[in-house]
Amino acid sequence: MYSLKELQRVVGEEIDNLRVGDEPDGLYEPIHYVLAIGGKRVRPALCLLAYQLFNTKDLSHEIIYPALGLEVFHNFTLLHDDVMDSADIRRNQPTVHAKWDANTAILSGDAMMIKAYQYMSMCPKESLPEVMGEFNKLALGVCEGQQYDMDFEHRNDVTVDEYLEMIRLKTSVLIAGSLKIGAIIGGASSEATNLLYEFGENIGIAFQLQDDYLDVYGDVATFGKRIGGDIVNNKKTFLLLKALQKAEGSLLEELEIWLNTTELNNSEKIEAVRVIYDKLSIRELSQSLMNEYFNKAIGALETINVERGLKEDLKNFAINLIDRAR
Ligand code: IPE
Ligand code: IPE
Ligand code: MG
Ligand code: MG
Ligand code: MG
Repeated sequence: MYSLKELQRVVGEEIDNLRVGDEPDGLYEPIHYVLAIGGKRVRPALCLLAYQLFNTKDLSHEIIYPALGLEVFHNFTLLHDDVMDSADIRRNQPTVHAKWDANTAILSGDAMMIKAYQYMSMCPKESLPEVMGEFNKLALGVCEGQQYDMDFEHRNDVTVDEYLEMIRLKTSVLIAGSLKIGAIIGGASSEATNLLYEFGENIGIAFQLQDDYLDVYGDVATFGKRIGGDIVNNKKTFLLLKALQKAEGSLLEELEIWLNTTELNNSEKIEAVRVIYDKLSIRELSQSLMNEYFNKAIGALETINVERGLKEDLKNFAINLIDRAR
């Protein structure tokens, strides 16, 4: 069995050595660029940790490549997401569309999705139909979630339930799917696989709640992304929905003016909306909802019928994900 640290080292080395293609340079250089600037490598780590719950044999290419496929797929979604969100900084570096252009982000992103499918199909033959079925499902789920995310920018009547479903799709299905794919390749029972999926869905929601929180309250150098992007884009985060629910009188009017203004002074808007959130104690509400989903996740993990010690790494990993500042 490998420790989490060892798994992360294996993933890091494999990604560093990954050559997805050579020519034309304009297609492949942005791919190597985004993969090289790092990130937390959450999804392959979850996939390998799930695999290890059921299979402690040496890691072969049949599990490593699907795990890498998940990271390449995740990075593909980021290339397109940064175009859609007009984000110019990620992992403290210029995003692909800012460094090159939007066409590059679109096409290099497409190539990454295809490579992700290729790596995924390197799973063991006997798991191929089930693994590809899961991968198709999660990939389409992310697209559906991203479309809701965009639609919601232009709606002012989004409910908290709609928001939760949107983040379940755009974020949780990839996290839950990564765990499930690892478990399937590891040979888990369908009961265990489904419980891991449930763990992942809830961890994923807590993870996105924390991302949305850090987008307002994070430290720019640590978070690696521009603070306040969600406020500028009128993203219907839990923070904003709760503020709209709780604000009254002149505070609500002020918030609505910021949402409807087109002559933007971005930093002024970010500061003003943050002050409104603070007045309404929105950050506490967000933290407590996150804890709720975290506890649900741990509940599902506890009921999986494998030795407690094996689950410990997964639990600690989940704690770090929720407690993170980047
Ligand atoms: C960013 O994912 C997109 C979200 C789902 C919030 P990560 O926070 O895992 O990004 P990296 O890969 O570590 O940069
Ligand atoms: C991430 O949502 C979802 C996907 C990339 C699919 P965000 O738009 O909040 O992610 P960041 O903050 O740009 O990483
Ligand atoms: Mg984004
Ligand atoms: Mg987005
Ligand atoms: Mg975000």
